[in-house]
Amino acid sequence: MFAWNDPDAGLKVAVFGSGGGIGRAFVAELASRPGVRRVYACSRTAAGDDSQPGADSVTRIATDVGSEAALEKAAAEIDGPLDMILVASGVLHTPEVRPERRLREFDPDAMLEIYRVNAVAPALVAKHFLPKLDGGRHTVFAALAARVGSIADNRLGGWLSYRASKAALVMALKTIAIEHARNRPTSLVVGLHPGTVDTPLSRPFSGRVPKDKLFSPEQSVRYLLDVVDRLTPADTGGHFAWDGSRIEY
Ligand SMILES: NC(=O)c1ccc[n+]([C@@H]2O[C@H](COP(=O)([O-])OP(=O)(O)OC[C@H]3O[C@@H](n4cnc5c(N)ncnc54)[C@H](OP(=O)(O)O)[C@@H]3O)[C@@H](O)[C@H]2O)c1
Repeated sequence: MFAWNDPDAGLKVAVFGSGGGIGRAFVAELASRPGVRRVYACSRTAAGDDSQPGADSVTRIATDVGSEAALEKAAAEIDGPLDMILVASGVLHTPEVRPERRLREFDPDAMLEIYRVNAVAPALVAKHFLPKLDGGRHTVFAALAARVGSIADNRLGGWLSYRASKAALVMALKTIAIEHARNRPTSLVVGLHPGTVDTPLSRPFSGRVPKDKLFSPEQSVRYLLDVVDRLTPADTGGHFAWDGSRIEY
């Protein structure tokens, strides 16, 4: 549990993919909480809304989660130690790539690119930023995974590259969590499913989602921060949905 409302808590948080729909909402929500002293908003585009409440506690860092050199540079710019790291980057489609409906649409180059962003990049962020978590406090590293990354829950098929990349992410997080817990038993590494959230990533596919099942980014990040608050060290390595339920691997 983080002391979000205690101005003396001095919490420091880094958000990667802070230019995305959910990443941007994480930055705004965290910056508005009295217990948060500094939000590092890490994005390929360093722009943000500096008129929002709490904007003076936001430091914008230009980086690319897919580039090890760029992440090393960003790590040097962040004045740690950090209490929480959120990886809110990810890709489902690009102007050239649509998620596969059938195997015949599968393009290996497109899959590799989706893997690079969804599975490799969060692991790279972990490599360079987990050492920045405060060794003496309860800390959290969370990456946005997705329910479709659950192998056990896959009943519909489709979206081959995205599903496989998110399953790989969940495995990477579990593996990293085991190693991390050896040195930092009070620190968690988890995957989070934000629900279906109205962002550029989901928009082409959310037309038939009932209104009450389509969250705004602001709503989703409040749910996710509540989930993070309810986790205990025994939950490290897990994959959790917006309502706190555990998603099977
Ligand atoms: N929206 C949903 O319904 C939903 C559901 C389940 C899971 N998720 C997951 O939640 C996360 C955030 O999604 P979102 O809905 O906020 O999507 P979004 O609005 O499209 O934002 C995704 C962000 O990821 C980063 N990104 C995308 N392509 C990249 C690339 N090639 N290289 C480096 N960074 C790249 C960018 O961050 P910068 O611009 O800051 O660099 C981008 O703004 C993703 O991991 C997604 O899979 C979303």
